Amino acid sequence: MNIHTYEKVWLVAAMVLIVGFIATITYGAVGPGIAMIDDEGGDINPDEINDDERFAEPGVEHVGGNEYEVAVVAQAWSYTPSQIEVPANSEVTFYVTSRDVTHSFSVVGTNVNTMVIPGQVSEMTVKFDEPGEYGILCNEYCGEYHHTMEGKLNVVPEDEFDLTELSVEADDEVESGNETTITANVENGMQEDLETTVSLEIGNETREEAVTVPGDGSEEVAFTVDSADLGEGDHDWTVTVDDYEESGTLSVVTPDGNESADGGDGDA
Ligand code: CUA
Repeated sequence: MNIHTYEKVWLVAAMVLIVGFIATITYGAVGPGIAMIDDEGGDINPDEINDDERFAEPGVEHVGGNEYEVAVVAQAWSYTPSQIEVPANSEVTFYVTSRDVTHSFSVVGTNVNTMVIPGQVSEMTVKFDEPGEYGILCNEYCGEYHHTMEGKLNVVPEDEFDLTELSVEADDEVESGNETTITANVENGMQEDLETTVSLEIGNETREEAVTVPGDGSEEVAFTVDSADLGEGDHDWTVTVDDYEESGTLSVVTPDGNESADGGDGDA
């Protein structure tokens, strides 16, 4: 049988195209690590989200090495948390669920894009190699303010990332002659120990104390402040740990001038 030359060319071209299409689909399915989101995340009762271990306090959690878990709750018309920060060179698993209606969780510019269905948890793992800023959008119509439903994902350089939290407990007032305590609580959300310095600035004095906060734990540092060193009046203080800072004012009052004094101690 004689096949015309052009017919042969078309036959070969058609075969090449078919093989090419199958190859690109196969590569797309298994090559770049793209995964369909399935029911692996499990079920959840939307009315009991606040009692759920993972979603009661949504946010970023370090699970070890470069692995992080991020729990996000979607509701009309916001995400909790709406600002997410993770380090570069990390592997992040998102768990997203909805409190009310069907939303979506789409990280613009990445292939993270899932429906968020009340009653189900969408789970997906993503690698972030480079620092960058991404918008998070809802692209399932979910009501009047659907278009305002957005969030932000910040991938920051590794050395700028931590999960440290600082809180300070201090009295507003101390009677002159007495001592008071300013207590700093440092929480370390990472799994590794955190070695850092807590410093207190008050009056003309700066005091520092080195602490080691165990992984996933917290440590308290108490500074005893003597009112005699400060003198009467208002004194601003600042407690600093790495990039975190909390400040307040301590008033040293005369026992007589203290309206709320508990009867005075007779040494006026
Ligand atoms: Cu939520 Cu649209």
